[in-house]
Amino acid sequence: MEQLITLEQVSKSFSANAKPVLEDIDLTINDGESIAILGPSGSGKSTLLSIIGLLDEPTAGDYLLRSENITALTRKQKSLVRNAHIGWIFQNFNLIASMTVLENVVQPMRFNKAIKSSEYIDRAKEALNDVGLLDKHATTPDKLSGGQQQRVAIARALVNKPALILADEPTGNLDQATGDEVMALLQALCDKGSTLIVVTHDESVAQRCKRRIRILDGRIDYDGK
Ligand SMILES: Nc1ncnc2c1ncn2[C@@H]1O[C@H](COP(=O)(O)OP(=O)(O)OP(=O)(O)O)[C@@H](O)[C@H]1O
Ligand SMILES: [Mg+2]
Repeated sequence: MEQLITLEQVSKSFSANAKPVLEDIDLTINDGESIAILGPSGSGKSTLLSIIGLLDEPTAGDYLLRSENITALTRKQKSLVRNAHIGWIFQNFNLIASMTVLENVVQPMRFNKAIKSSEYIDRAKEALNDVGLLDKHATTPDKLSGGQQQRVAIARALVNKPALILADEPTGNLDQATGDEVMALLQALCDKGSTLIVVTHDESVAQRCKRRIRILDGRIDYDGK
């Protein structure tokens, strides 16, 4: 398997004299892996995912994307890398309320130079079709159930065909049955070869992933099957 992202000795502190939130994290993520990140509240799971997903920066250590060290890129450069290579799915969906479902899914392509604007609509509709919501394309997010909103968010995360999909508690605001539907959708993506990392408290969600990483007090406590 090809190395997608490698973290080398990554640490994160939010203030100079406080105990680091993450300490000396060494982690390699390969293409095609499905990974669950588990651990108690406050252990550093979301912080780790934000660093992997280029939403936040480590205070020490290196970030390699396909063996290229991109630690020193500017925030702006990193946001372009993020938009092209990483699809984010959040607990609270983060859809834009004033836009239609279709416009929400189009949005990430506007920052992706690899996609021509003439392709936006077709690609967004294809992504919505993949999550079973093409018929809702003209509606606004407030008219959708939580599970449907999360499926739109998944379509939005997929539309740039990212190398890596990151989800922080994607089923946290959903009931068990709807959460299972969302996880089945994510799992189907894994089966198609997408790489996925899910932060979750839910053991049944974690069971669906092939690799489990447990964070305890800012360190990797377990990494295995
Ligand atoms: N922006 C921030 N500024 C200061 N401290 C922060 C910040 N973000 C997170 N922290 C601290 O870092 C620690 C880890 O937070 P993080 O959100 O990564 O935990 P988590 O494992 O995702 O927890 P949960 O399961 O509750 O979501 C916590 O002690 C938190 O208070
Ligand atoms: Mg969290």
